[in-house]
Amino acid sequence: MTLAAGRPSETVLLADPLESSVLTCIGSTPLVRLRRFEPRAGIEIYAKLESRNPGGSVKDRAAARIIQDALRSGGLRPGRGLLDATSGNTGIAYAMLGAALNFPVTLCVPSNVSQERKQLLQAYGAEIVWTDPLEGSDGAIRRARKLAAEEPTKYYYADQYNNDANWRAHYETTAVEILEQTGGRVTHFVAGLGTSGTFMGTGRRLKHEKPDVTLVSIQPDSAWHGLEGLKHMETAIVPGIYDPALADVDLRVETEAASAIMRRLAREEGILVGMSGAAGLVGVLRTAAPLERAVLVTVFPDGGERYLSDSPLSRDASAAREDQASTQEQVVS
Ligand SMILES: Cc1ncc(COP(=O)(O)O)c(C=O)c1O
Repeated sequence: MTLAAGRPSETVLLADPLESSVLTCIGSTPLVRLRRFEPRAGIEIYAKLESRNPGGSVKDRAAARIIQDALRSGGLRPGRGLLDATSGNTGIAYAMLGAALNFPVTLCVPSNVSQERKQLLQAYGAEIVWTDPLEGSDGAIRRARKLAAEEPTKYYYADQYNNDANWRAHYETTAVEILEQTGGRVTHFVAGLGTSGTFMGTGRRLKHEKPDVTLVSIQPDSAWHGLEGLKHMETAIVPGIYDPALADVDLRVETEAASAIMRRLAREEGILVGMSGAAGLVGVLRTAAPLERAVLVTVFPDGGERYLSDSPLSRDASAAREDQASTQEQVVS
């Protein structure tokens, strides 16, 4: 195995990417039970703690698979760097893997991502192209497409929104873990839509193995929302890998309901999650409301540490008590 020292001006890739220890740490995340949120006996609620991946989010899975496919196909090869648009977590995963496998990473990122994310991207040594915050993730996508078209020999454009390796990562790992960790008892899978890779890949595999499973996708309730990582499909560039027909139910979640649940999760279960994970739990509780018996599983894509500088987690304890009362109403309405 050869590993060039430092970040390359001339790329030298690992002979076998699987020899990277960071890659071998991705996946096999814990599935935790959220007993305090279970509305009655007969309802079990679980969440995959994706913050336990080495890059701190679910996006390590997709990024690793995208990179391994690109190395195998020769799309990513010596002399070329990886380029993509990302609102943060995929970028952190690419930047981490670029450092571990020794290739340059260029990311188009909306400039309003949290301070913690900016620092993480820079810590791993990625080159960042900041894009207009008012254009959100769609502005970053447009910029990445432009750069890729202008310099096709310099970049491998990973295009996570249209890359089948994204959902396949979840088909082969996340879904298999959920089936194993629930002993095949999962009845409902609930997940937010960003690129839609997590929902499409996990959902497809669960349906394949258990055709009676119910798949619930989660979107923000409006174009202007605070559910970082999720897309409002009617008003966004729709990812090519997204197929709305897979979901049995598509739920809309308000930012306020997710904020309140995020605070409750931190204070009642000791689990700090990002807003998209909290939105997933809101979706779980709404799905569970009319049910007698069910095993519901959601994904917490990342941890709340990444958002502390601008997050509702910073509110005080009396606000938390109000949340408990108000989420009971908001969540099931
Ligand atoms: C915090 C967060 N939540 C949810 C998602 C959505 O995951 P996916 O892109 O697999 O739909 C992302 C994607 O970047 C994310 O960063």
